[in-house]
Amino acid sequence: MGNSQAINLNNITVYIEDGLDAVGKRAADVFCSALTDAPTAAYGFATGSTPVCLYQELIARYKDGSLDMGEISAFNLDEYYPITKDNDQSYDYFMSTELFNHVNVKPENRDIPSGEAPNPAAECLRYEAAIRARKDFKLQIVGIGENGHIGFNEPAATFPATTNYVELTESTITANARFFDSAADVPKHAITMGVGTIMMAEQVLLIATGSKKSQIVRDSILGDIDPQVSASALQMHRNVTVVLDTDAARDLLAQL
Ligand code: F6R
Repeated sequence: MGNSQAINLNNITVYIEDGLDAVGKRAADVFCSALTDAPTAAYGFATGSTPVCLYQELIARYKDGSLDMGEISAFNLDEYYPITKDNDQSYDYFMSTELFNHVNVKPENRDIPSGEAPNPAAECLRYEAAIRARKDFKLQIVGIGENGHIGFNEPAATFPATTNYVELTESTITANARFFDSAADVPKHAITMGVGTIMMAEQVLLIATGSKKSQIVRDSILGDIDPQVSASALQMHRNVTVVLDTDAARDLLAQL
């Protein structure tokens, strides 16, 4: 596979791939190997630009008959609050258009925090309970924010243990404004799996691409375990796979 490189850092396997296609294929290999092992398990998905290359590859494999997601349950990391499901900026909408409309995950087996719930605190409890009820949370896909967030777990004094209602930081609102007409239109809150919720997955697949992520990828993998960088908690997880493109890997490689 091109100029692929694999490094082992403590419990973390890091793949470095040349280009987004190769990142998507490698991430799909990791996902599909979990799926072969546990075809009826619960899987956690992510939104944002990063996992799109993975979703395109999963769609291609579904179309050529080599992928079957018919028995999985799908959870998602997070959702803006408030937002309606039919808003084309909602994460629910994103998952439908980028993945679920094109593969065979059953609609009744999909769950995502609701941006329409009347009471966000109650919705956090419902969502956390739904995940915890699963004893087969096989794999969680995560991207990483430029501030080190996974899900919307923004820099904080402690790692959030459970699904929580958060106020988005200015840095996240600015980063996500590219999807909206203006920064003023980005919702100010979100409901997100906690770092503890993510850590319950048997395996975590972190994908990062582009030079803007290079520094935070290095800090998350090689830096102190610090809730100011929520991805650094993954150093305590026993089964993490990281897939990077060469741009996102630059600072990490420079420090080895
Ligand atoms: C998305 C999510 C976020 C993104 C992160 C990176 O569900 O929880 O943590 O993964 O903000 O976003 P992109 O991939 O757009 O750079």
